[in-house]
Amino acid sequence: DWTPEHVLESLVKEVRERVGEDRVLLAVSGGVDSSTLALLLAKARVNHLAVFVDHGLLRLGEREEVEGALRALGVNLRVVDARERFLTALKGVEDPEEKRRIIGREFVEVFSQVAREAGPFRFLAQGTLYPDVIESAGEPGAAKIKSHHNVGGLPEDLKFELLEPFRLLFKDEVRELALLLGLPDPIRLRHPFPGPGLAVRILGEVTEEKLDILRRADDIFISLLREWGLYSQVAQALAVLTPVRSVGVAGDERKYGYVLALRAVTTEDFMTADWARLPLDFLDEAARRITRRVPEIGRVVYDLTSKPPATIEWE
Ligand code: XMP
Repeated sequence: DWTPEHVLESLVKEVRERVGEDRVLLAVSGGVDSSTLALLLAKARVNHLAVFVDHGLLRLGEREEVEGALRALGVNLRVVDARERFLTALKGVEDPEEKRRIIGREFVEVFSQVAREAGPFRFLAQGTLYPDVIESAGEPGAAKIKSHHNVGGLPEDLKFELLEPFRLLFKDEVRELALLLGLPDPIRLRHPFPGPGLAVRILGEVTEEKLDILRRADDIFISLLREWGLYSQVAQALAVLTPVRSVGVAGDERKYGYVLALRAVTTEDFMTADWARLPLDFLDEAARRITRRVPEIGRVVYDLTSKPPATIEWE
């Protein structure tokens, strides 16, 4: 019978035999798949370099958390601070697909530069899962609503053999491997987070100021979900900073603050989703805490739309 221990053992063996003395490059995003992949390579003791590109669009404390956990578990990790670069490239850009394109392009450039400097590498490891394999096999009618970016479209001069040890696994199985490999629960059980990060949760232009506001509000929402034991009961939860400002009162003054939208969904496969029936007392507490601690936000609303017709993200 195939217990997680067996799966891990056979993956370690497979990776070791395939890679041998050659070198493996991989990109880690902070999500469970790429983190677990990095741990697998470390466990298999193959010569690897894990690259974490900090594009400045991450959540509060995320980079430090991933960095600490992976290093402690023997991953050879390089963190590239590319925050300035991404912010500059995004300046003045409002269109969602344009933001995604720019982020994808900058990511490939930063990653390629590391690959050249630290190379050569024979292999590129990717945390591709079974559902991704099926999806990219191209079922007719599975129209892409949004351009999803992972590592794709690398320049011509960078050629790798792909190493995809999770290609036959589902997400739950990767989470079981992650447990065996010692990945801390906050990372192991983390909700999916889009590659373009907070850039698609700030409607319109992304600025340092808006990133800072959203990061603080998002952290309050997510921490509160954990406090209430609700985090793992929803598939994904997020906060969206809208460009709308509404009026409020602060003492005797009228004050205009941003409208922040909270969203939480339940879903099996992320293709369809239902909005989560979070307790009203929880939502009340979230709205109070956010407006108290993030004074730039004047109003908090909760998204009652399912997918379809809406998508999970707002952009
Ligand atoms: P939507 O908004 O399309 O999201 O209902 C479905 C799932 O995909 C995630 N998502 C992305 N992931 N790059 C990613 O890596 C992207 O550009 C992207 N857009 C959406 C979203 O967070 C949800 O889990």
